[in-house]
Amino acid sequence: MSTKTDRLIALVDKHGAHNYHPLPVVIARARGPFVWDVQGKKYFDFLSAYSALNQGHNHPKIVAAAKKQLGKVALTSRAFHNELLGPFLELLCRITGKERALPMNSGAEAVETAIKAMRLWGYRRKGVPENKAEIIVCSENFHGRTTTLVGFSSDHDSSAGFGPATPGFRSIAYGNAGALERAIRPNTVGFLFEPIQGEAGVIIPPEGWLAAVRAICSENRVLMCADEIQTGLGRTGKMFACDHESVAPDLYVLGKALSGGLYPVSAVCADDEILGLFTPGTHGSTFGGSPLACAIAMAALQVILDERLPQRAAKTGAYLKELLETLEHPLLKDVRGRGLMFALEFKTRVRPLVENLLALGLLAKDTHENTIRLAPPLTLTQAQAKDAFALIAKAVAALPA
Ligand SMILES: Cc1ncc(COP(=O)(O)O)c(C=O)c1O
Repeated sequence: MSTKTDRLIALVDKHGAHNYHPLPVVIARARGPFVWDVQGKKYFDFLSAYSALNQGHNHPKIVAAAKKQLGKVALTSRAFHNELLGPFLELLCRITGKERALPMNSGAEAVETAIKAMRLWGYRRKGVPENKAEIIVCSENFHGRTTTLVGFSSDHDSSAGFGPATPGFRSIAYGNAGALERAIRPNTVGFLFEPIQGEAGVIIPPEGWLAAVRAICSENRVLMCADEIQTGLGRTGKMFACDHESVAPDLYVLGKALSGGLYPVSAVCADDEILGLFTPGTHGSTFGGSPLACAIAMAALQVILDERLPQRAAKTGAYLKELLETLEHPLLKDVRGRGLMFALEFKTRVRPLVENLLALGLLAKDTHENTIRLAPPLTLTQAQAKDAFALIAKAVAALPA
């Protein structure tokens, strides 16, 4: 490792909180599916900032939109109107098929917004007694890091030391329709879930589960709330992961690729009967829906549409999956994925594999010790997928049996 790399990592170690365990690489610039470290070494980025970079790093059209807006007006707050908020909301509603959208910043904030929206709907529309609303969530969920969200996480590292947990949540087994049906009670207002669990290790629910969830939620007057922050906007080979079963949830929660990685932009999208219940003063955010955020997010969405990124993810994903399925190693337990969202699960810790890949020039990250997630930008070409696979195969072959 170079002195410069060492020095920069030591600075973070000394002055930062140790809430991450990053790979020892210091990135200085990026373009498309590639990043370069401070020494100029090039890497494939197969994490894509946890799927925030579906459009690739520094997509020229998104960068141009950001530059055009910078120096004009970046922030107004929602105390005033800005000329880009309306067009952004209109585009988001067209893509999601919903009547309204509420822009926020981080993913966790958008999930919190969806929770508030579901509770409000429960009290104002379903007739749930005040402070009695219940929301059903799934085991092994990951929805973000706020106190409420970690309070219903089954990941001990996320929640331990941060209690007491916010009341009003019940957890059921992921992918089990019967468990959802049994958990619903008169005060249940919503079911919050990931259509594929990303942080849990790319866990794909059984076929038919999403459609069953839709039916159960409708029959019981419970809102179906899909956290598509990681799976949405093309990642799984469709615009939304719910589209794989032609299911429309009542609420979409979006983030990450909504800005193509240039700015934190998130949103909740739902019909008027849900989002129409917010009144002035009941919710807000200083930066949410800022002109800069809207300019960037509109360009990011337009790139997804114009470059047919969901379709490309499906095609390149199918090609890469075929290659990944040829991998052989006595400790390789499972290869799974949809679109360009994969996991390789091993019977051993994968940190050495991750470090091997780093040395070979491919960045990926372990999730839950034994699983490595592969999620390149959706702009990856077939030729690049082939080159990246060669590195993955080499790193897997070098893993001790
Ligand atoms: C499904 C899901 N929901 C919510 C979040 C939280 O997003 P953020 O880190 O922007 O708060 C993430 C982040 O990984 C996620 O994958």
